[in-house]
Amino acid sequence: MDGPSGSGKSSASRGVARALGLRYLDTGAMYRAVTWWMLQQGVDLADADAMASRAGDPRLVMSTDPDAPGVTVDGVDVNGPIREAAVTGAVSAVSAVPEVRARLVALQREIIAGALASGGIVVEGRDIGTVVAPDAAVKVFLTASAEARAARRTAELNGTTVAAQKVEMARRDRLDSTRRADPLAKAADAVELDTTPLDLDEVIAEVLRLVKERA
Ligand code: DC
Repeated sequence: MDGPSGSGKSSASRGVARALGLRYLDTGAMYRAVTWWMLQQGVDLADADAMASRAGDPRLVMSTDPDAPGVTVDGVDVNGPIREAAVTGAVSAVSAVPEVRARLVALQREIIAGALASGGIVVEGRDIGTVVAPDAAVKVFLTASAEARAARRTAELNGTTVAAQKVEMARRDRLDSTRRADPLAKAADAVELDTTPLDLDEVIAEVLRLVKERA
């Protein structure tokens, strides 16, 4: 499941994983966790070589339980801090570094391989259908209007406005879609689903219908 932030990916992919008894992986949380670690270590986020040379250092452990997803870095639970503005503002720079991506894609593939042995997994991100799992049985690309995406994010966060969120999301979309390494993109064989007029249950129902049809 790929798409920009606020398209409804996280809630929908968790709901689908629960409904089908599958594991769930939030790859955005992995990029956020590495970003949190780089900030903690004082790595210069304007220096791609510095980030590249440290890309292999943080030890990430992911929970793939859709009822309790999460990430630890070197044993520290970072699920709160990775959603804070400092990380959100810096994550596009860190996730543009090819060495960071190579390391996280390898880890994602390991987790996917482990989960396939026990039924399967729903994976959400920006490059899952194109790069991480090109052979996925079902690929969905979620979209939503800029207004709907900003409104959803504003409802999740405190102390922000729809207008401010729209500006921040447009900035992140531009960076995530135009970077050279594995940009946000719809796979040729992905089904595009515009979630603007749909509520969460309707999005989940539509994805479950696709799974039934395709898998
Ligand atoms: O889904 P999210 O907003 O938590 O993702 C945070 C950032 O991580 C996003 O701005 C781009 C990056 N990301 C990525 O480059 N590739 C992925 N598969 C997932 C996220």
